[in-house]
Parts: sequence; C-alpha cells; structure tokens
Amino acid sequence: MQITTLILGAGAAGMMCAAHAGPGTLVIDHAKRPGEKIRISGGGRCNFTNLYTEPANFLGANRHFHKSALSRYTQWDFIDLVARHGIAYHEKTLGQLFCDGKSTQIIEMLRMEMTQSGADLWLDCTLADLGHDGSHFTATLDHAGTRKTVTAQNIVLATGGKSIPKMGATGLAYDIAQQFGHTVTETRPALVPLTFSDQRFAPLSGTSAPARVSNTRTAFDEAVLFTHRGLSGPAILQISSYWREGEEIEIDLAPDGHLLEALKTQRQAQGRRNLTTELAKHLPAKLIEHLAQEIDLKGNLADQSDARLTDVTGHLRHWRLKPTGSEGYRTAEVTLGGIDTDGFSSKTMMSKSIPGLYAIGEAVDVTGWLGGYNFQWAWSSGWVAGTAI
Ligand code: FDA
Repeated sequence: MQITTLILGAGAAGMMCAAHAGPGTLVIDHAKRPGEKIRISGGGRCNFTNLYTEPANFLGANRHFHKSALSRYTQWDFIDLVARHGIAYHEKTLGQLFCDGKSTQIIEMLRMEMTQSGADLWLDCTLADLGHDGSHFTATLDHAGTRKTVTAQNIVLATGGKSIPKMGATGLAYDIAQQFGHTVTETRPALVPLTFSDQRFAPLSGTSAPARVSNTRTAFDEAVLFTHRGLSGPAILQISSYWREGEEIEIDLAPDGHLLEALKTQRQAQGRRNLTTELAKHLPAKLIEHLAQEIDLKGNLADQSDARLTDVTGHLRHWRLKPTGSEGYRTAEVTLGGIDTDGFSSKTMMSKSIPGLYAIGEAVDVTGWLGGYNFQWAWSSGWVAGTAI
C-alpha cells in the first residue's frame, strides 16, 4: 500500500498533525483507543492549553527551538478550534484552561478534524520494521493480526515519551531517530513527585500548603502536597523538572512575606497565646505539629524575643530538604529530554539529514511546565509538521 504520510502515534501531537497533513495520511497506534493521555489528563477534564503560554515555560537543550512552532500555532489558535467545536471550557487557575465536560471531547474533536482532512487511523497496530531507500520509507505493520507493508514519502515520529509505561509509553521514537543517525539527549522523568528514603511525611499525608519552592535554578509559587512517599503537588512537580539527584530544594512556607510582622503584632495583642496555635492560623496545624520538634516551637507568643521570632520564621521560610529520588516514569507526567532538536528544522519539524522524517510532541527534547503547556507543544509541533507536509 502506498501512502503519503505515516504517523506513528495517535496521541495529541500525532492526531493534530494528521488533521493538517491531508489525504494519504495513515496514523497508527498500538493502543486500542487514540489519545489515551488526553483522556486521563487534568483529572479527566484535560488542561488543554495555557493562556499565558510563552517560550520561557519550556525546557530543552536548545532554548530557542520551540519558539517558532509556538508562535505559528498559538494557544489562541487552539482555543479557537475548541470554541468552533462548541466545547465549553474554563480557566481553573494561572491561565490553565480545562474542559467543562470530559476530556474525551478533545479526542472527538481531533478525530473529526482527522476525518475531514482525509486521514486514516489504524489502532492495535505495531511497527515490525522500518526501512528507507533514500526517497521512501517502507514500514512493516502488524495490524489486528495481519502483516501489512506500507510505503510512505513521509514518516512522523509522534509516539511520545517514556512516562507511564503502564499506558503503553515506549521509546520507539527515540529508537527510530537513532536508527536514522539522530541523537537523543538524556531522558528523565519530569513533573513527578519527589521521594525520601524514610517515610518522614507519612503522618502528614494529604496535607497541602501554599509555598514557594525553589532551587538554584528557579522558583515556583504553588501548592505543596505531603504524601506517604514524600512531596507532591504542583510546586513540587514543577521543580522536579529542574532538580537532580543529590540536590536540595528550599520550601518557603510563608511566601507572602508577612508572617514575622503578623507574629509580632499578635504577640502585642495576645501574648498569652501559644506560638504553635498562632502559627496554625497561617499554616496547616499538622505541619506545625510536624515541625515543632525540628524548630523547637514552644511557649507563648510573649515568651518569644524578636530574634527568636525571626529565627522561627527564617526556618519556615527556608526549609531545606534533600529528596532521595522521584517516583520515576511510573507517575511522571512527562519525559524531560528526547530527540535532539539540533538535527531538525524548527520551521517544519523535519530532519535536516533525512528528508521526509519528522519528529513532534513529547518525543522531542522540548518539555513544558505543568499547566497545559505540554499539550500546547503537542498542538503547535503537530500543526507545524502537518502543514509542512
Ligand atoms: P502521547 O503520549 O500523547 O501519544 C503517544 C502515542 O503513541 C500514544 O497514543 C501511544 O499509545 C503511542 N505509542 C507509543 N509507543 C508506541 C509504539 N511502540 N507503537 C505504536 N504506538 C505507540 N499535559 C498538559 O498539557 N495538560 C494536562 O492536563 C496534562 N495532564 C497529564 C496527566 C497525566 C497523568 C500524564 C501522564 C500526562 C499529562 N500531560 C498533560 C502531558 C501530556 O499528556 C503529554 O505531554 C502529551 O500527551 C504528549 O503528546 P504526544 O502526542 O507527544 O504523546
């Protein structure tokens, strides 16, 4: 069978690409349904983009590569598409847009766009072999128990990253890129909870607090969630993309900067009030209980000198912790690193050395922050490749 374009992976990027690549496009996926990560994303409501998407929200070895695609197919273009399909949505927080209904609406929308563009979709289909004769790609496919050979002018690598292997994540895109002489940068789990070898936070499990989490590279102001295994919540997931084993993170539990003054004011007004009781007005009581020994929190407010209150708030504002690891690909939302962008055109997502070979989405060394940025990269890179084809 001869086709124009074979897209490997019916995820966010692959479907977006197929919606613009035109007739003669075949998308294959080894899963039984397309867009499984879209389905489970955002707690089933899909945080499909972010109003404030800009290049600074992305990581990758080349800090400029993603700019072109993000500026040519923007969050506003995707919002427009969602609106044209009559999908209701809302901003939850920090520019994060979610469906009012189910995330399957986004999958249905992409399926409709693919059908209109004349693209075919084969599910339950795996790639057994891939060759290239200098001008065409020949793929041997196993589709629902039958072996088929497909010849295509273009092949698009859209099989995503390694996160959540239970959902069928594989390193296929990396293997093929390497087969064709491309390099793959170091990959690691990102947007992932951080763990500690002891279960120190187990008693706090389920407690969350607004915080600023930082390291030497960056800082995020969002919630921290304590878990049996360690730390999670948006601020921790964000910093995990910038954290390396052996490094410390710092948690500021009073990021608005008013705690010291508030304590001094209360000391004046209600000196007989217990220090821990007063602190529990600003932070979860369980957390204060946990920290009471570490910081030696005791006595009434009136017992605390200015120096002591400065010391206490200093501890709360500069809580340094050294996680031992992360929960890994088992729970990571994305994969950091991937197909080296140096070998690809940022204008078309096509290989500079193998004409007709494209790479898009999470498989590429471009990783977004938490908050809809990763889907926006999938839409933008998919659109760029699809329209270039
Ligand atoms: P994606 O992973 O979507 O698709 C790859 C496709 O390739 C899959 O359909 C897979 O089955 C297929 N495939 C893989 N290996 C194959 C093989 N060997 N043969 C055939 N097919 C193969 N992002 C965001 O912006 N907002 C959000 O709300 C969330 N929420 C979220 C929740 C959870 C739990 C996770 C794990 C991830 C998110 N993300 C997210 C991240 C987002 O899901 C991710 O960045 C995009 O889905 C990436 O799109 P891709 O199309 O590149 O890969």
